[in-house]
Amino acid sequence: MARIAVIGAGAIGGTLAAWLAQTHDVTVCARSPLDDLEVETPEGPIRARPRILVDPAAAAPVDWVLATTKTYDCAGAAAWLPGLMGPDTRLAVIQNGVEHLQRFPMVPPERTVPVIIDLPVERTAPGRIVQRRNGSILVPEGAEDFVALFDGTILAAETTPDFITAAWRKLAINCSGIVSAITLRPAEVANDPEVAEVMRGLVRECIAVGRLEGADLRDGLADKVVEWTRRAHPDSVNSLHADRLAGRPMELDARNGVIVRLGEKHGIATPLNRACAALLAASAAV
Ligand SMILES: NC(=O)c1ccc[n+]([C@@H]2O[C@H](COP(=O)([O-])OP(=O)(O)OC[C@H]3O[C@@H](n4cnc5c(N)ncnc54)[C@H](OP(=O)(O)O)[C@@H]3O)[C@@H](O)[C@H]2O)c1
Repeated sequence: MARIAVIGAGAIGGTLAAWLAQTHDVTVCARSPLDDLEVETPEGPIRARPRILVDPAAAAPVDWVLATTKTYDCAGAAAWLPGLMGPDTRLAVIQNGVEHLQRFPMVPPERTVPVIIDLPVERTAPGRIVQRRNGSILVPEGAEDFVALFDGTILAAETTPDFITAAWRKLAINCSGIVSAITLRPAEVANDPEVAEVMRGLVRECIAVGRLEGADLRDGLADKVVEWTRRAHPDSVNSLHADRLAGRPMELDARNGVIVRLGEKHGIATPLNRACAALLAASAAV
């Protein structure tokens, strides 16, 4: 049984904490109070009563810390680390994007595990979450003991020999979702041929920058992203779009800004990601 602290009791953090609490000693480090966790999973409801803390001063060292806040809340999440990190504690960063290792610079990279998660989950109330599919978790080779934490859950965790490519492939999908957040139209917007061409352009910029960052991305990915979006439920709303609709901050920098920033580092122009990010930021500000 491992001692695990989950920072963030939102959709991802709450779901992982509820599953892991079935077999491990779990502490939830929350910003807003909650009593317990209940997740509607594809296999029925699961419930958990993990230890819940709302004050970083009450945190004690654990074996694993799972950071599950949105990418723009990393500074707040980091306030928990002095209490939670002992000499052997490792940090798993479970967020979208490709900069997992840079987000918590106070933890040495060799003790940080970047995690890509594909798990459609939604929080409906404090501690109440709907999990729509079984989901999957991907980490680099060498993080087998992180994978083992999920034994006995319906979450398929595994290692990959090429984490960089996997992370950039996911970014390629996510960066194109900005067209929905701008137009306020769900996945069906990809059926518009002109919008689909903008999506392909966004992905092509992502591919060009990703290759220079070491990812093995094929040209055909741009068409595939459009195809996958067209095959999704026409009403499905990506998280950038959902955050805009709800008036919440958006992971714009982690999904599109990063392509612009890393493009600049490599001397590559990324005009579509730059323009779309600027337009979305300006529209969301009104
Ligand atoms: N949801 C999905 O289906 C999904 C799928 C794949 C990847 N992801 C990625 O997973 C990450 C988490 O997303 P999410 O959907 O779980 O977000 P979320 O539902 O908004 O949850 C984030 C949680 O972090 C908490 N938080 C913020 N600052 C904190 C702090 N200083 N201390 C403790 N808790 C803090 C928030 O607290 P409050 O309760 O006060 O708001 C919230 O409960 C994102 O990078 C997202 O892109 C999400």
